[in-house]
Amino acid sequence: MSIKFENVSYIYSPNTPLEKKGLDQVSFTLKEKSFVAIVGHTGSGKSTLMQHFNALLKPSAGKIKIAGKEITPETGNKNLKDLRRHVSLVFQFPEAQLFETTVLNDIAFGPKNFGYSEDDAKVLALKWLKKVGLSEDIADRSPFDLSGGQMRRVAIAGVMAYQPDVLCLDEPDAGLDPRARKQMMDLFLDYKNSGHTVILVTHNMDDVVNYADDVLVMEKGKLIKHDIPANIFADEKWAHRHSLDEPSATAFAKQLSNYQFEKQPLTMDDLVKGILINLKR
Ligand SMILES: Nc1ncnc2c1ncn2[C@@H]1O[C@H](COP(=O)(O)OP(=O)(O)OP(=O)(O)O)[C@@H](O)[C@H]1O
Ligand SMILES: [Mg+2]
Repeated sequence: MSIKFENVSYIYSPNTPLEKKGLDQVSFTLKEKSFVAIVGHTGSGKSTLMQHFNALLKPSAGKIKIAGKEITPETGNKNLKDLRRHVSLVFQFPEAQLFETTVLNDIAFGPKNFGYSEDDAKVLALKWLKKVGLSEDIADRSPFDLSGGQMRRVAIAGVMAYQPDVLCLDEPDAGLDPRARKQMMDLFLDYKNSGHTVILVTHNMDDVVNYADDVLVMEKGKLIKHDIPANIFADEKWAHRHSLDEPSATAFAKQLSNYQFEKQPLTMDDLVKGILINLKR
């Protein structure tokens, strides 16, 4: 099932002195089972856009079709539970939302809330505790005794445990060390490869080229480009003008001034292949 936004606008605090446009006539269609990156300068509307996927915010104008539901400015707050079972949003710093007495109960909360029995929820919780790279030994500990990175994993496990069709993540890697970041990104890629849609807000262009197959570029509440990663970075000047950093492999390739690359390397794999071709010449 694809996700479709039709001319979606969102206004914060309408008709007050604080009125502010968060989204401006945004239209796009996302294919199911894709890995979508949402990028753009700070304040460009990425988080505002994310909160529309599970109707945490509803459009001020326009229409969204997602998970068999249609969301319009008239959509009420009732009957959204089914949507949120299928489309889940993990905020930046999700650890702030942990609240149960033990790690296992915290992860089991989501599955229980969406209809799994107590026992099934615990089995799922244990499975996802391990899948996010944590040890069973911490299952009975208070989530508040964990390190920041461990708390983040618990919070993410709590959402992945009920297997939403669409997993939306708003900068889930903020403040994690490089190894933890990579583990987490690989986990999201596995999730996509097992038949789900992943939508990720990120400032990290290496993650965009390594993981995403579709990119939305936001600026001042507008969608200014929707394309595959290679096309987003193909026009270097355009990317620079819109505050998108170069992927590190692309920047590295530029330093190799006496090498010729047939196509611009985006990932480390591309770069290594390009260098080997040059060495054989
Ligand atoms: N609760 C709010 N009330 C009023 N304006 C808001 C609110 N939240 C966001 N905005 C404004 O809406 C615009 C888009 O904000 P948003 O948080 O979606 O940006 P973002 O792209 O996620 O930024 P960042 O990269 O810093 O997280 C900004 O101008 C912001 O100031
Ligand atoms: Mg944001």
